[in-house]
Amino acid sequence: MSVRIGNIDLGEFPLLLAPMEDVSDPPFRYVCKQNGADMMYTEFISSEGLIRDAAKSIKKLDIFEYERPIGIQIFGSDIEHMREATEIATQAGPDLMDINYGCPVKQVACRGAGASLLQDIDKMVAMTKAVVEATHLPVTVKTRLGWNDDTKNVYEVAERLQDVGIKALTIHGRTRAQMYKGVADWSLIRDIKRNPRIQIPIFGNGDIDSPQKAANWRLEYEVDGMMIGRASIGYPWIFREVKHFFRTGEFLEGPTVAERVEVCRTHLEKSIEWKGLKTGIFEMRRHYSNYFKGINHFKEYRMRLVTAATLDEVQDILSEVELKYSAEVV
Ligand SMILES: Cc1cc2nc3c(=O)[nH]c(=O)nc-3n(C[C@H](O)[C@H](O)[C@H](O)COP(=O)(O)O)c2cc1C
Repeated sequence: MSVRIGNIDLGEFPLLLAPMEDVSDPPFRYVCKQNGADMMYTEFISSEGLIRDAAKSIKKLDIFEYERPIGIQIFGSDIEHMREATEIATQAGPDLMDINYGCPVKQVACRGAGASLLQDIDKMVAMTKAVVEATHLPVTVKTRLGWNDDTKNVYEVAERLQDVGIKALTIHGRTRAQMYKGVADWSLIRDIKRNPRIQIPIFGNGDIDSPQKAANWRLEYEVDGMMIGRASIGYPWIFREVKHFFRTGEFLEGPTVAERVEVCRTHLEKSIEWKGLKTGIFEMRRHYSNYFKGINHFKEYRMRLVTAATLDEVQDILSEVELKYSAEVV
């Protein structure tokens, strides 16, 4: 059965690319889309930044036709500012708006935004209601299990946010206190799915890093779809591999080095296209070791890639890598 968010049809058991600051920008989203991500989100965008017209925040509103369906994710601590930011972001023409109630980092959660709202459900509900009323688009929410082990309140959160009109909920199976430590626990997510009051799609998030785990957790936790974050960094093939495994029960062969180089080049090109030559080359540096993880003796190439100053140099090194490791599957 197809999963729907408002009028958006996501097909059966969609795989979502997680919003990730400094990662899920348009160049990265391009390669994830090419490899089967069914829906994507922007990096989180500060509502304060949008209202102040800060260049960094406005730039993050850039979305492209081929990315659809795509959601813009915002965060903030002030309800009125979140309302205004929703109006601004809606103008950018996404398919939906998403609110971040999951970010655990101090600069966000200790300033009353992100996961901090898990400590004040009444305010979270009021904020969500304001966002829902400020846009004609469907609104989704991404959150965690709760603030800490003693306050895992996402069950109540799910009901109350559905009541004020959200159209889907993604839950990362950790508390704020856990940050990214320990293992994600999806059992509460299953409890929410089993709640007869809950009608909206529930997406599971946290620690999906292989087709087999995706298939096992799909069965075990009964979610409507999954969101994948870290496992896609430098490995956008995770989406197609999971889908293939769902369809056939067999593992798709991993990408060859030639394919890795090709996708890396595409990512680089898109990065330059969107960020300009200098920043495009510079910001691509953080991705090389991920694209070539597991390749023997790659260190020397990585060192050269992250110090290369011109596009020609980078392209030449990538050609060397392709030649040296051709036909290798890692
Ligand atoms: C580098 C990085 C940046 C992130 N930025 C965001 C963000 O902007 N918004 C958000 O909702 N979650 C953010 N997250 C959390 C992820 O969306 C996701 O919930 C988390 O990584 C768990 O999923 P995973 O185990 O598949 O990575 C970020 C995570 C990482 C690793």
